[in-house]
Amino acid sequence: MTLNMKKLLILTAIGTSLANASCDTTKFVACQDKFADKLGIDRVFNWLNPLGLTLQIQDIYINGGTGGVRGLNAVCNSYNSMVQCLADASTTTFECFDIGYLLNHSNAPNQAYSYGFLMSMLQYQCGAGFYLASDNWSCMQRIYNGKNATMYGCITDFVLNAQEDPKKGCNYVQTGMDCFSKASILQGCPDELKYYGCESFRQYSLPQFARCEKQCFIDTQYRGV
Ligand SMILES: *[C@@H]1O[C@H](CO)[C@@H](O)[C@H](O)[C@H]1NC(C)=O
Ligand SMILES: *[C@@H]1O[C@H](CO)[C@@H](O)[C@H](O)[C@H]1NC(C)=O
Ligand SMILES: *[C@@H]1O[C@H](CO)[C@@H](O)[C@H](O)[C@H]1NC(C)=O
Repeated sequence: MTLNMKKLLILTAIGTSLANASCDTTKFVACQDKFADKLGIDRVFNWLNPLGLTLQIQDIYINGGTGGVRGLNAVCNSYNSMVQCLADASTTTFECFDIGYLLNHSNAPNQAYSYGFLMSMLQYQCGAGFYLASDNWSCMQRIYNGKNATMYGCITDFVLNAQEDPKKGCNYVQTGMDCFSKASILQGCPDELKYYGCESFRQYSLPQFARCEKQCFIDTQYRGV
């Protein structure tokens, strides 16, 4: 067999397994329980209570995790464990976080979307965005602390408005991005955090509004020095 043929076979196998895979609800629930346990929060904060889970995560960002672990580490270690748990369960993360799947298995669209949104934001905050916040965590933690209610408000307004009037969804995405950007400004802290806030919100909205093609702009004039 030539190398190219082997490659083709491997690609075909991957394509088939992706097409056939679908989220196993029982395993998904078990992995979410693991997420809650690792975070040290009640298991009721799961996909059926995504806004409650959002607040719990903000709370950990502010106050730290169990045993005084830095909030960002506590959240990202738990998130990565859940992702690993889903992979071990031979279901993939993407299928369980897929809006189509979540809509089919949730009690209400708001619930499905706000869980999908939160997981998308965490994927950014624990992935590409990690070092941006990690390197300035004392700033970011103070921002979450001072703007906790504001940031939660940005999220709940967006979830409500976007479901009530999805045609104007892209406007609500922009409003949310501006809301998070503005909240992420703090005297003595670098402007990169404004970008981090904006991008966190943009990633939050992606599962429903990727079509909006919004962009966050980076402005590094002020570096807090
Ligand atoms: C959701 O349910 C519909 C109707 O039962 C089905 O056609 C569709 O494939 C389901 N989608 C997912 C992602 O499970
Ligand atoms: C923010 O992170 C940057 C990049 O690592 C670093 O140079 C800067 O000192 C940090 N600023 C604060 C206020 O922690
Ligand atoms: C954050 O704000 C929400 C909503 O106003 C509130 O319920 C929660 O207790 C606040 N958390 C912290 C840590 O201040």
